[in-house]
Amino acid sequence: MKLLEVKNLKTYFFIHDQEIPAVDGVDLTINKGEVVALIGESGSGKSVTSMSIMGLIDSPGKIMEGEILFHRNELFTDNLLKKSDRELQGIRGNEISMIYQDPITSLHPMLKVGDQVAEVLQIHKKMGKKQAKREAVEMLKRVGISDAEQRADELPEKFSGGMRQRIMIAMAMISNPKLLIADEPTTALDVTIQAEILDLLRKMGQEEDAAILLITHDLGVVAEMADRVCVMYCGKIMEEADAKELFKHPKNPYTQGLMECIPRIDDDRRKTLQIIEGYVPHPTDFPKGCRFSTRCPKVMDRCREELPELIEIEPGHKVRCFLY
Ligand SMILES: Nc1ncnc2c1ncn2[C@@H]1O[C@H](COP(=O)(O)OP(=O)(O)O)[C@@H](O)[C@H]1O
Ligand SMILES: [Mg+2]
Repeated sequence: MKLLEVKNLKTYFFIHDQEIPAVDGVDLTINKGEVVALIGESGSGKSVTSMSIMGLIDSPGKIMEGEILFHRNELFTDNLLKKSDRELQGIRGNEISMIYQDPITSLHPMLKVGDQVAEVLQIHKKMGKKQAKREAVEMLKRVGISDAEQRADELPEKFSGGMRQRIMIAMAMISNPKLLIADEPTTALDVTIQAEILDLLRKMGQEEDAAILLITHDLGVVAEMADRVCVMYCGKIMEEADAKELFKHPKNPYTQGLMECIPRIDDDRRKTLQIIEGYVPHPTDFPKGCRFSTRCPKVMDRCREELPELIEIEPGHKVRCFLY
């Protein structure tokens, strides 16, 4: 069952009379309880996509076009782009939560961590302070904070980066969201801790039956966690497939470039995206045809003139490339 459908999303920035099409017609579907990885080089528009879903695009950014359909259940669907700020505040941190790359700056430095987790319930579930605090302590235990009763009264500075990310996960999950967006959730952490945090994310997602949109540049993470993968480049989805299928049969030359070093189970899992020769074009300077045409090893004349559509070549496998 579909949970979130992003349709033809265009999010542009306007700076010095320049139009920056950071996200330029993105289609993305997340099913209930599913882990979808969004991958692509830096500057592809992954974070802007996630901020658009969260309703966090502010001037100089503007959502120009598209729909973000959130299917609450079989009967109710909301277009999040039609919601007021107030309604979005009710959804954000409640039905859709987000954790960011940097667990240091995402917590309030002057508030006890237990109170920060409890606040989510006080705001979104209108729960009394005492009960909210009790549930917050339970949640802190579930995410692996030992001595949670005592530690709930400490400030974030008393916790390591990994522990702070656990607290962020507690905050994100305590509202029982249907969708968790995790934007590079382990990038800022020590390699040794990354796997623990990912295991926790997966466990919490499964226990709460939450879908996860996992933004990452770490193919090991994708191989380990994702059900489905969307590959993004220059504001567009270039390919989408089941994770196993994508690793076995990447079709788009861009995906193939990223996957030149596919991590194997017995391999070093921390391999990140392969460096593809050349530069990611800046959004003010996207090529006229296929966005990858300036770097593609299989480029044809047509690719420099026309933009290929994203087409389904096999059930569940979509590619944007004239080779197919
Ligand atoms: N606040 C902003 N103002 C202007 N341009 C922005 C802003 N945020 C993002 N962009 C532009 O949008 C593009 C995509 O950025 P982003 O979504 O952060 O990429 P990713 O997360 O894939 O690395 C970048 O080229 C960046 O220059
Ligand atoms: Mg980003």
